[in-house]
Amino acid sequence: MRAGTQPARLNGVLTHPAGRLLRLTSPADKTMELIIPELSLVLLVGPSGSGKSTFAHRHFRSTEIVSSDRCRAMICDDENNQIVSREAFELLHHVVRQRLLWRRLTVVDTTNLQAEARRPLIDLARRYHYLTCAIVFDVGEAVCQQQNAARVERIVPAHIIAQHSQALSRALVGLDKEFFTHRYILRSRDEIDSARIRRIPIREDRRDDRGPFDVVGDVHGCLDELLALLNLMGYRIDMAPDHFGIPRPRVEPPPGRKLLFVGDLGDRGPNTPGVLRLIMDMARRGQAMSVLGNHDNKLLRKLRGNNVQLTHGLTQTLEQLEHEPPELADAIRDFLETLPTHLVLDRGRLVVAHAGLREDLHGRVSPRVHSFALFGDTTGETDEAGLPIRLNWAADYHGAALVVYGHTPTAEAWWQNQTVNIDTGCVFGGRLSALRYPEREVVSVAARRRYAEAARAFLTPTPPQGL
Ligand code: UTP
Ligand code: MG
Repeated sequence: MRAGTQPARLNGVLTHPAGRLLRLTSPADKTMELIIPELSLVLLVGPSGSGKSTFAHRHFRSTEIVSSDRCRAMICDDENNQIVSREAFELLHHVVRQRLLWRRLTVVDTTNLQAEARRPLIDLARRYHYLTCAIVFDVGEAVCQQQNAARVERIVPAHIIAQHSQALSRALVGLDKEFFTHRYILRSRDEIDSARIRRIPIREDRRDDRGPFDVVGDVHGCLDELLALLNLMGYRIDMAPDHFGIPRPRVEPPPGRKLLFVGDLGDRGPNTPGVLRLIMDMARRGQAMSVLGNHDNKLLRKLRGNNVQLTHGLTQTLEQLEHEPPELADAIRDFLETLPTHLVLDRGRLVVAHAGLREDLHGRVSPRVHSFALFGDTTGETDEAGLPIRLNWAADYHGAALVVYGHTPTAEAWWQNQTVNIDTGCVFGGRLSALRYPEREVVSVAARRRYAEAARAFLTPTPPQGL
């Protein structure tokens, strides 16, 4: 068994691809917990006779298990018939692909000992923006031989199991280099018997949260305007002293309502610490959630100690933080670490992402999801102001979910298909806006002043074609 990464950093796998076996219980209780995000393609890896199929049926629904033996049987009524191997694997890959399209957790029950066998499966996981999990059955050749010999339904020749055991040693080296977000290695029958699976939703998945919600556009440190907007929407605002006796706003939503933010909470504006303090306080009480904006991501990288370019208002944020107790920067870093790339809410009817999100990326996790949600669709080129040229993904959006986003200031909330951009450029002297959901009303307050100069003119919504 190997040491584990922290489950709290699950989505951090994009930059930390080092998932390991987790022992989460005390040594006295030998139960081991294998954490598996619901958005996983799980590869069982082990020699014939090592107990893969037994394990799969103990822990997963039969429809979640895609087995090469079963595919052989479906083709020719014989699990053992190696002649139909090619067709069996074609069928297996086809079923896996369909399941990933449908966002179903999928367990591939075949030996998966060769890198060439794993590669097409890993490619499918990447193509459908899935997490990948390997569960390795490393119980030793003697156990495999003994378990195989005791089988009634199908006995594999002993020399094949010997070959598989050698292949496993190579696979263990290969697996470390391959794209697995979680790797678990079970090294004995005891470990296999005591293993428990804990399935967890990815943090983007808040389908069960039905709202109602108020989704706020890019705040960029504009605390006064945020308070004015919340007040306008019926949130109660009291001033209460903090630990140091300094009065701070404390916000209470109208009963049942929740506050969502499209990200870019700080930078450029006059009071990033105040905005973050308020949102973090509400998030702690379960009354607010935010997705990660590109500015939040840059601040997070800075607070993690990465070397980032100090542009676009980050300098102001760092200066503002210098006047705060150092613990605040740590608390902000910890908070930003928890922010999802996007949120899927209300049974999938509502998606919130900083720069928007194409339908095929909703509820999925990958570097592409991360970059699209934070920066939108860009051509890869820059304009005369040195800014990335952005593509209008919303014009081509035909999904059923309403996508609420910000990132690019627009003169007024811009509806296109089932999307709405609610970044009305408050920090540039425009307005701070919120979308009330499910009412679909936009509420705005004017900026008290212009805190930063916009590098380019606000977008002007074009009327839908045909009007
Ligand atoms: P499996 O049939 O589960 O092995 O177990 P496998 O890894 O999937 O093998 P292949 O690749 O399909 O050939 C092998 C035998 O060991 C017994 C099972 O009942 C089966 O007969 N077994 C396995 C146990 O008795 N207990 C276990 O915990 C695991
Ligand atoms: Mg099997």
